[in-house]
Amino acid sequence: MSKHLLAALKGQTTARPPFWFMRQAGRYLPEYRALRQEAGGFLAMCLNPDRAAEITLQPIRRYGMDGAILFSDILIVPMALGQSLKFAEGEGPVLGPLPESLDFTGAAVVYAPVIETVRRVKAALPSETTFLGFAGSPWTVATYMVEGGSSRDFGKTKSFFYSQPKAFEALLNGIVTATVDYLSAQIDAGADAVQLFDSWAGALAPLDYERWVIEPNRQIVAALRARHPETPIIAFPRGSGALYKRFTEIVQPTCIAIDTQVPPDWAAEVLQPLACVQGNLDPLALVAGGKSMLAAAEHICGHLGRGPFIFNLGHGIVPQTPPEHVAALCDFLRRI
Ligand code: CP3
Repeated sequence: MSKHLLAALKGQTTARPPFWFMRQAGRYLPEYRALRQEAGGFLAMCLNPDRAAEITLQPIRRYGMDGAILFSDILIVPMALGQSLKFAEGEGPVLGPLPESLDFTGAAVVYAPVIETVRRVKAALPSETTFLGFAGSPWTVATYMVEGGSSRDFGKTKSFFYSQPKAFEALLNGIVTATVDYLSAQIDAGADAVQLFDSWAGALAPLDYERWVIEPNRQIVAALRARHPETPIIAFPRGSGALYKRFTEIVQPTCIAIDTQVPPDWAAEVLQPLACVQGNLDPLALVAGGKSMLAAAEHICGHLGRGPFIFNLGHGIVPQTPPEHVAALCDFLRRI
């Protein structure tokens, strides 16, 4: 069987929509929770190639999605740039002070176990499954680096770029360079495509969005494409709203991933002529399951299924998702 998901990324309209789900490996799966307990926490698992490869494969064994996403985290890049990182139980990520200047000398050592995970997954994955690498986009990664963790309003990060735009630009440039190297290494080790997560793109005013979302994503896409012209790039500038169109025109990703709020008919009309579209079922519809979930999925496929399209969620699977609802959604998508 050929790679169904890769065909959609190459611009083909497929007979049924290929699918995978953001956060398809994770706490909603009992086999993930069991391994996590044994492994000594989330970050230790990300940096252990045996474990990370196993977790990447867990949802594929259970459900046979068309795509497998590397099990890792977007905060590996700050670590590679010399900033300390830990995940405190129940608290999310905690980063140490932002380094005075970014230090790239240790980057390859930090990336090494992740790249080894890519090799192992590639060797173990069924040939019909498309393997996705990923990284965070510079704006989103910078928010964690500046805030020291998750944030509600990005107050520190916004004060930083409003008061010291040149210094903030230097930080983003460093993240661009590190991210291009990191994704390039993932592709060399076997990733078939890559996704850029700009989870907090929706927090910026239009002029700031232009400079801190569009421009760095554009640079990454252009640099990666120069090095790996055949490798599709999915961009997920979550919450971009009316700016999704401009983002797609300027950044020119192979595929644009839309969040839960984007109307599928609008995306079909405005975005699909420019790129393959990926999305966008509400992760909470997957928690609810049943008829309402299937009706929502059908609505999305009805509008987007006539062009290059990959079915996904509008954001990641949440921990309280019943695994049998994921099975029901996969069955539905296979029969469509
Ligand atoms: O999608 C996948 O299955 C691949 C793995 C993946 C993870 N994180 C695993 C993870 C991917 C692609 C990410 C990306 C990521 N990480 C993003 C962008 C996507 C998004 O969700 O918006 C962001 C913002 C992060 C940073 C991050 N990682 C936070 C804020 C947290 C804590 C919140 C939470 O959900 O616990 C994480 C932890 C994390 N990353 C977990 C997983 C499976 C949970 C770890 C655990 O406790 O077991």
